Amino acid sequence: MKFIVLALCVVAASASLSADQYSLVSSAWDQVRHSEVDILYNVFKAYPDIQARFPKFAGKDLDSLKSTAAFATHAGRIVGFVSEVIALSGDASNTSAFNTLVADLAKNHKARGIQKSQFDEFRTALTSYMAAHASWNDATAAAWNAAADNIYNAIYAAL
Ligand code: HEM
Ligand SMILES: *[C@@H]1O[C@H](CO)[C@@H](O)[C@H](O)[C@H]1NC(C)=O
Repeated sequence: MKFIVLALCVVAASASLSADQYSLVSSAWDQVRHSEVDILYNVFKAYPDIQARFPKFAGKDLDSLKSTAAFATHAGRIVGFVSEVIALSGDASNTSAFNTLVADLAKNHKARGIQKSQFDEFRTALTSYMAAHASWNDATAAAWNAAADNIYNAIYAAL
């Protein structure tokens, strides 16, 4: 009993998910994580104001950009970052690595003038993408929402 109470406290104090949540999130993420270009394409399509913040992509035709190496490189970085952060969400012992990684991202985006509202747009677009391309139900949606809340709380704390 003491152990359970202690374990619950550790979970509550960290950015990690329950084992069930982690398993739902990682299996949904595994179904989309190799679609880097398609993910970034959908984010830019839904929110052209995000595309406009990229010096390399601003003002260019999205359908032409989609097949360029520069687009694939950046898509790989963004999606790869999400993969890393998700991998750190499954175990409380990785919380400080999780916080460091996310705080660094928030700081270097703050330096570029990216607003909270644009991070929120990114979340909305990524969530729709996952709901459309991974097997999805209420439990998966709730687990993903918890994972995204953890990431976003850490972003907001550093923005
Ligand atoms: C959780 C959401 C996001 C993730 C995971 C993410 C991830 C990344 C990563 C990994 C990089 C490359 C490494 C770096 O230079 O820091 C990057 C660069 C960048 N991101 Fe984000 N980003 C996110 C949201 C956004 C949003 C919402 C915007 C704009 C509205 C944005 C604009 C940029 C820009 C302008 C760069 C620099 C690109 C360049 O160097 O040409 N990011 N992002
Ligand atoms: C997270 O923590 C576990 C247990 O300490 C460790 O085995 C695992 O490699 C860590 N994950 C990452 C991505 O660092």
